Amino acid sequence: MKIYIKTYGCQMNERDSESASALLARSGHTIVHSEEEADAVILNTCSVRDQAEQKAIGKLGIMKRLLAEKPGMIFGIMGCMAQSRGEELLEKIPHLDFAVGTDNIHALPEIIGELAKERTKIRRDARFGADTPGIDAHRMEDAAKPYSAFISISRGCNRFCSYCIVPYVRGRERCRSMESIVEEAKGLAEKGVVEIMLLGQNVAAYGMGDVLPPIPENVSPFADLLERVSEIPGIRRIRFTSPHPAFFNGKLIEAIAKLPKVCKCVHLPMQSGSDRILKMMNRPYTSAQYYEIVEKLREKVPHINFSTDIIVGFPTETKEDFQATHFLMHKVGFDNAYIFKYSPRKGTKSSLLPDDVPQEEKERRNQVLLAELEKTNEEKNAALVGETFELLAEGPSKRNPARWSGRTDTFKTVVFPPPPGLKEGEFLQVKITGATSMTLYGEAVEK
Ligand code: SAH
Ligand code: SF4
Ligand code: F3S
Repeated sequence: MKIYIKTYGCQMNERDSESASALLARSGHTIVHSEEEADAVILNTCSVRDQAEQKAIGKLGIMKRLLAEKPGMIFGIMGCMAQSRGEELLEKIPHLDFAVGTDNIHALPEIIGELAKERTKIRRDARFGADTPGIDAHRMEDAAKPYSAFISISRGCNRFCSYCIVPYVRGRERCRSMESIVEEAKGLAEKGVVEIMLLGQNVAAYGMGDVLPPIPENVSPFADLLERVSEIPGIRRIRFTSPHPAFFNGKLIEAIAKLPKVCKCVHLPMQSGSDRILKMMNRPYTSAQYYEIVEKLREKVPHINFSTDIIVGFPTETKEDFQATHFLMHKVGFDNAYIFKYSPRKGTKSSLLPDDVPQEEKERRNQVLLAELEKTNEEKNAALVGETFELLAEGPSKRNPARWSGRTDTFKTVVFPPPPGLKEGEFLQVKITGATSMTLYGEAVEK
């Protein structure tokens, strides 16, 4: 059967879609890249904001038209919304055939097989352990970037930030064994992967068990994992997302600084710069403690970059609270920031509070922070002109295929004319010749 999987949500969902494709391909199905070519469509859904849910539900509605041409077409959902609202959606949407929860990816081949024989409504939502079947299945031969791979190191989350639905839809935190992660990375390196992104809702808490902050300074199984993955010969770059600031300690800072393969860019979700709001968010750190991590890392690695997640318009957020967020953002000088307008999620603690910041004010605060980000990037990028960086070549640039783009280890995109013979996934030295707030421009130089 020809199957199309469309992914919404975060990198963990992207990774799960890849596992699903690998398992379905292994059982004889063909993965296609559009719904028009497909006999079955699976939406891998996200619940983190209302908008994310509405997008997938809207898409399911629109796709109903495909049934006119292919009456046997199968429609399914997997992922976070399938976990939390699977039953309800199976009932409400007549053409929806199955809903598979976040830990049941391995059930997909069997479900597709059953539906091919007989039409019923199928639901799977049981919880499994960290090494839920299929978690290590990859499909590099079909990947857009066959030199770069994601590895899930844990599933779920124990933090219960008051606004967040993830612990409910993904379950409690379960960490995979270090051995199985290292084996997976070795296998990928043998297939030519040079860059690994380690994924988890709170990677810094990897292997720590159910500890509560403040955590000890000198224990970090995640730092040990970074070291182990660094030892794999073919792997040249290691990235990770996301570490919770309250789980960042001296040992992790040391590992990032001393391990050359660990990329010098850290995604450090700040959420707010107001201590009062952080407390209400159940984020157990202050703005000063947050900034301390930034300072300590910059002290050891002066060129390190930071990116972040910020929520604007959390219940009761005043102009002063927002100013504190703006101030901390300015002080850190992020190279990237994902700014979200607060969206109340049913079942979370903050959803019991009135969503009292008006939509226009959320929008205004969002725009202020986006302008701040652009200004920082303009200044920081301009300062890089004349410097030389090692790039991982990613192939023809989207806007102008005559030029290629690549990434620095600090995750900056550089556009450059490709030297003859350059292949995707290879490294080269590039000197920066120009900059905008979004992009750097450069020319290849000899090492
Ligand atoms: N585990 C990751 C985040 C996963 S969700 C971490 O803690 O870093 C990604 C981002 O979505 C969060 O960092 C937060 O900024 C945002 N987010 C989560 N719930 C939200 C909500 N209810 N409304 C708006 N943004 C939200
Ligand atoms: Fe959500 Fe907080 Fe867990 Fe991140 S750490 S997934 S924001 S509960
Ligand atoms: Fe969305 Fe689930 Fe990721 S809710 S952000 S896809 S963990």
